[in-house]
Amino acid sequence: MGHLNQRNIIIGVCGGIAAYKSAELVRLLQKQGANVRVVMTDGAQAFITPLTLQALSGNPVHIELLDTEAERGMGHIELARWADAIVIAPATADILAKLANGDADNLLTTLVLATAAPVFVAPAMNQQMWAQAATQENCDTLRRRNFLFIGPDAGEQACGDVGAGRMSEPADVVQTLNAHFPSRALEGLHIVITAGPTREAIDPVRFIGNHSSGKMGFSLARAAIDAGASVTLVAGPVHLDTPEGVTRINVDSARQMLSACENACSQADIFIACAAVADYRPVTVADHKLKKQGTSGLTIELTQNPDIVATIGQAFPNLYTVGFAAETQNVLEHAREKRTRKQLDLIIANDVGNNAVFGQDHNSVTIIGSELELHLPEASKLQVARTCVEALAKEYRRTH
Ligand code: CTP
Repeated sequence: MGHLNQRNIIIGVCGGIAAYKSAELVRLLQKQGANVRVVMTDGAQAFITPLTLQALSGNPVHIELLDTEAERGMGHIELARWADAIVIAPATADILAKLANGDADNLLTTLVLATAAPVFVAPAMNQQMWAQAATQENCDTLRRRNFLFIGPDAGEQACGDVGAGRMSEPADVVQTLNAHFPSRALEGLHIVITAGPTREAIDPVRFIGNHSSGKMGFSLARAAIDAGASVTLVAGPVHLDTPEGVTRINVDSARQMLSACENACSQADIFIACAAVADYRPVTVADHKLKKQGTSGLTIELTQNPDIVATIGQAFPNLYTVGFAAETQNVLEHAREKRTRKQLDLIIANDVGNNAVFGQDHNSVTIIGSELELHLPEASKLQVARTCVEALAKEYRRTH
């Protein structure tokens, strides 16, 4: 059984043409062993009947906020407490606005306010409505409040338009939910993860560095801990809290990072190199702050840093090694080449062009292995990390 077995999931259905997809979503969740209860808005009933969703979920459908019958069975507060997750699919522009506003004017909006469970939204609307500043600002507000977005996908729309706004396919929604709920996929395994930038000193006050925020590596550490691994995080200089349960080793330079990894990896099963390691360092580090020399420029001679992931892979041949490829062009091609050159088991490719990734909370990646090429749509770095961990665990177990 998967991670959704015996999970209590509320599906919130709103009034949009994509409401027909919620029938398939309910069916797929049932198949995964989840307990599903459906909440419909008034608008939703114009598109799909409560009877259909009742038959598929095996439970009465909840519609009214103040229904004396329903409140005697499972009232709205009990329902909000019962849920392990609320999934609003399809989520219309109207419900997004209501949620951003904190409204409690129907059962669904009230449940969202009353629950402590994570809330997922799968938007579905006309592409122009999705692109509107009002909708986008509502989504930004919701993301800041930790609502988890699934999609929307782009493509041909029911209204004839083409663009972003199609509800994600039910199978993709289920995949995201699966990834959110931790499995114990890495139980018993020790994982070493590098994260953040390295700093290569020029003198006591200056260094060569890069924009890496460390968020992806820290998200991976959190996802790996949740999946049952024991995790050592070798972190470059970043200001992020250590996820609970993770052993953190702080380093500055690439050479310090390598030495920390060499120690940690002697006991490890999997090594994930997520750090943005500086490729070069100054040949000499000045003892004192460098002073300006008249008006002439300054030349700093650089030498190459060791390649941490390649060195570790050679030193520990049985270690399962995973690298990242941050690229700005021909992303997949460069990533495949890097995986072979560095002899990695897996490489996770991401496009860092236009500052789209560094420091941001969202990311979209492709996981590449010898027989695997899995593209993950844009999602929060934690969601992406959870999906990566699941895929990695599957590949690791397949080969070990
Ligand atoms: N990496 C490493 N040590 C280095 C440089 C990179 O361990 N000195 C790791 C990164 O953590 C990442 C992978 O190698 O997992 C690819 O990093 P990237 O910077 O994309 O590749 P480079 O080898 O630096 O290649 P290039 O800069 O030429 O693209």
